[in-house]
Amino acid sequence: MGHPDVMDKLVSLCKRRGYIFQSSEIYGGAGSVWDYGPLGVELKRNIKDLWWQAMVRSRDDVEGLDAAILMHPRVWEASGHVAGFVDPLVDCKTCKGRFRADKLEDARCLRKPSKHPGEFTDCQLTEPRQFNLMFKTFMGAVEESASAAYLRPETAQGIFVNFLNVQQAMRQQVPFGIAQIGKAFRNEITPGNFIFRTREFEQMEMQFFVEPETSMTWFEYWKTERLKWHQSLGLAPERLEYHQHTPEELAHYAKAAFDVQFDFGGTLGFQEIEGVHNRGDFDLSRHMECSGKKLEYFDQQKNRRYVPYVVETSVGADRVALALLVNGYREEDVAGEEEGRVVLGLHPTIAPVKAAIFPLTKKDGQPEMAHRIADDLRKVFPVDLDESGSIGKRYRRQDEIGTPFCVTVDGESIVDQTVTVRDRDTLRQDRVAVSALRAYLADRLANFS
Ligand code: GAP
Repeated sequence: MGHPDVMDKLVSLCKRRGYIFQSSEIYGGAGSVWDYGPLGVELKRNIKDLWWQAMVRSRDDVEGLDAAILMHPRVWEASGHVAGFVDPLVDCKTCKGRFRADKLEDARCLRKPSKHPGEFTDCQLTEPRQFNLMFKTFMGAVEESASAAYLRPETAQGIFVNFLNVQQAMRQQVPFGIAQIGKAFRNEITPGNFIFRTREFEQMEMQFFVEPETSMTWFEYWKTERLKWHQSLGLAPERLEYHQHTPEELAHYAKAAFDVQFDFGGTLGFQEIEGVHNRGDFDLSRHMECSGKKLEYFDQQKNRRYVPYVVETSVGADRVALALLVNGYREEDVAGEEEGRVVLGLHPTIAPVKAAIFPLTKKDGQPEMAHRIADDLRKVFPVDLDESGSIGKRYRRQDEIGTPFCVTVDGESIVDQTVTVRDRDTLRQDRVAVSALRAYLADRLANFS
């Protein structure tokens, strides 16, 4: 049996608990744009920090970059996005729906969601027309075609146009990479599935510049590395797989491509969370052609000048966040209780709150002690202090947001300076001296399995 569809439950949990809200909700919502609440922003930050650590800080052959979202409009002519970043679009004159012509089998008729567009005899689908997915705007005060600009649909182009700047400033030698994290925008025709496909999202991309003859070796290397990274976040290995692009699926720039896919459960099933592409010399050559500037590399040892090939790894921070939420969501029975519990089994490095501190009662110095403990732990990781409601309710709330440890201050704590630490997954409770608590939690967080 496949994994269940937990998307509706997650949307509700994310709103209720402060992970993710619909954008501009009080105005009825902006289509497929989402805001990250207090817990969501921590979750996404943890994902981005882990990616930056793995891709930039822990390597001496990858440099970081933060290029601007707005670029010279000719960048998008050179990259092929003005001419080729299009989806075929059809309208249905009967239900007024708008669909991707090449994905009708995935679309739902607006009148009857169990049917695909075109399945009713009175469906009136128009001929497909090409729709460019880039958001267009204007730079400066005059709204004319000469000042047209685009919100970037991928972060990659900021890296290509800075290839020589970074290589020369950092005295890097090929092979080396440039990585960046940033917003990208696509006017998707059929966005949806919560934060899976949105119009504004964040990409974490790395372009690795290599000698042309070595590109397939590096392609295999990065394919393996990137799958390992997803596993290290706690995504279940059986829910991850590769998908090789067929020649028909390959993007206009790609010589070879593999997706890392995650099984989102339900009818969505396995879907791309990351793409690894061998882009050849497509981008650098196009930018040389269009800008008239040389973007070549001179290998002094081999006395050879060439345009490097690029192996790209491109992953969506929002899609990884969704995969982690889906992967972690579970409902469990609790012995002796009518109501079960909902748990977000997030890996502690990903969890927004690492520990919650509860004074059992509001008297006998317990709140003061809980405050002191929280202040001390806050110096090293995010904690939550919760003083209200029954202890059971407080546990349930922390389970639902994925907090790995709950620390309870009780009457005994005041006497012997110890607290109870409860493990989210095993429910095991340890009695720990307050003086050893920071080290105890740091050790449990570091050695979590
Ligand atoms: N530079 C190559 C590139 O952009 P892509 O396969 O179009 O390749 C890479 O996108 C990743 O960006 C995807 O695997 C996905 O994680 C994320 N992504 C793309 N479009 C998205 C959207 N509309 N909403 C959320 N994430 C998206």
